[in-house]
Amino acid sequence: MEFVTQILRWIHFLAGITWIGLLYYFNFVQTPFFGETDPAVRSGAIQKLVPRALWWFRWGAMFTFLAGILMYLYEWVRQADVFFVSPYGVSITVGGVLGILMFLNVWLIIWPCQKVVIASAAQVAQGGQAIPEAAGRARRAALASRTNTLFSIPMLFFMGASRHYPSLVGQPSGNAVATLFIIVAILIAAIELNCLVGTQGATKKPLDSVSGTLWAGFLFWLVLILLFEIIL
Ligand code: HEM
Repeated sequence: MEFVTQILRWIHFLAGITWIGLLYYFNFVQTPFFGETDPAVRSGAIQKLVPRALWWFRWGAMFTFLAGILMYLYEWVRQADVFFVSPYGVSITVGGVLGILMFLNVWLIIWPCQKVVIASAAQVAQGGQAIPEAAGRARRAALASRTNTLFSIPMLFFMGASRHYPSLVGQPSGNAVATLFIIVAILIAAIELNCLVGTQGATKKPLDSVSGTLWAGFLFWLVLILLFEIIL
């Protein structure tokens, strides 16, 4: 079994690097470049480059998720009663929930929206009309992508903490863990809600800029760490 879980871990790392590497490429490199470049260059890239990058991006997300959820379920079953009061169980649940939301944002928001953006660019390149909803879909995908960048910062910390930083959690009571999970769930839900309704007029600051997104990610990490320290 140790061999099987190590293979899963290996797949998880390889797919995770692929996914998050492309997420950072989209946010830190491609979007600023698209903002500055000529429409013709942007259109060519949307038709030929973006679909390739998105293929690796969404399947990277899929394999990261599948390997991650299998490892999670395996440990849950193995540790049974003590899982949710163990340092591993508490940290990996927080990291895993963030990762699962990021995975859902990829497959349910970013990819469906980008399909419309790509189809619209292809139609315009062939002399047709742009798809009317394409601009709105592009903004929605961008906000989900920024939200994932924000989430990735604490996500990776808690994922690594699960095996390497047990003193973050110690030996908490079931009540303390339940309190922590409820507060953390409310905070995560608020950020995800901003992602879901943000393009319909609600504020999406600080996610308007890359630097704002990074600041928000590190601030969110700090809030989570303080909650761990105070509650557990
Ligand atoms: C999509 C949802 C995700 C789930 C459900 C998940 C789940 C897990 C689980 C259960 C482990 C523990 C493995 C073990 O027992 O050793 C783990 C470890 C890890 N995960 Fe994830 N993960 C997810 C996403 C990600 C992403 C996007 C990354 C980014 C690259 C990532 C990076 C890592 C790393 C680096 C570790 C190793 C921790 C260590 O040092 O042992 N995970 N993940």
